[in-house]
Amino acid sequence: MDIKGIAEEVCKKTGVETTGRDVEKVLSGLTSSSHFWEVVCTAREPFSVVAEVVEVLKRTRLVKVDEQGDIYFTPEGMKFLKSRGITPRKDYTCPACEGRGIGLEKLKELVQKFDEVTADRPKAIIDYDQGFVTTRTVVSRIALMADRGDLEGKKLLVLGDDDLVSIAAGLSGMPAEVVVMEIDDRLVEYINDKATKLGLPVKAIKYDFREKLPDEYVGYFDTFTTDPPETLEALEVCMGRGLTGLSGEGCAGYFGLTRTEASLKKWNLFQQMLVDKFKVAITDIIDDFNHYVNWDYLLGSIRDDYSFVQVKPRLNWYRSSMYRIETLSGFKGMENKSMPCELYIDQEALIYRPGQM
Ligand SMILES: [Fe+2]
Repeated sequence: MDIKGIAEEVCKKTGVETTGRDVEKVLSGLTSSSHFWEVVCTAREPFSVVAEVVEVLKRTRLVKVDEQGDIYFTPEGMKFLKSRGITPRKDYTCPACEGRGIGLEKLKELVQKFDEVTADRPKAIIDYDQGFVTTRTVVSRIALMADRGDLEGKKLLVLGDDDLVSIAAGLSGMPAEVVVMEIDDRLVEYINDKATKLGLPVKAIKYDFREKLPDEYVGYFDTFTTDPPETLEALEVCMGRGLTGLSGEGCAGYFGLTRTEASLKKWNLFQQMLVDKFKVAITDIIDDFNHYVNWDYLLGSIRDDYSFVQVKPRLNWYRSSMYRIETLSGFKGMENKSMPCELYIDQEALIYRPGQM
């Protein structure tokens, strides 16, 4: 089978548009690592596409999978790579900042304080598709917002906060006020408790972003930050709420978007939505900015029919790009009313429910 044939088969099986170049990226990832989750990370392709490419390679005996779930090219596989000119991926990521372009030297104390304060944080649970980011990521988010002039003396809306960005922001001493809107009671209580004990200008309220924004917070904030679920509908509602919370032009929104659960086709549709519908400018997209700490429920929540997928990750493989958007005159939020939508499941989702594909 040639590369184009593999792409067609993967596309048919997953329902995700897949090109020969996409397949090449997975092949290239597999030449540098035998670990499935590292390949998902480096290939920057949807999870379902990587899994299906590996499955086709396995079936056609170009790779084999050992008892640990590691994936290796067979001699035929090696010949296949050579004849198509596939080489290992080059990685020149800056090791000091992990590619974020943010130096944390001036924020060492905040890194340490955040770790101390949040040592007893609630565990990530599947109910709300949680999975929080590393401390270096959280503090880099604070640094990025401050660097862009969106944090110091500003009012910050944190829409969903299992990452505890609100606590890091409070500890930084920079924002005037931080309001967290969060669906998980455990986190609302945890954040309010820490804020009281530490005297931080942070308040958490229970909120489901499918509901309308509380009236007092419409047009109230300077900046919002969120880590949205990645169905297109959820992205739309989440952006709509964040933007509705902003006070006018020149305000900013920050959020992560993955390659693992969002194909470039979805990126394209989403970017069009940001520009055409919401009328904002996309000022920054920082690849692989957000690194997530591995969460306990992963293997129980994904497909179990491929042995090479049911492998415990050996690295913080789940990453997302950091977007910054800025409002222009004439920007639009959304009508402030409740909006039911599918949050978690589409063809590109990591979480698997029977009948999904
Ligand atoms: Fe760097």
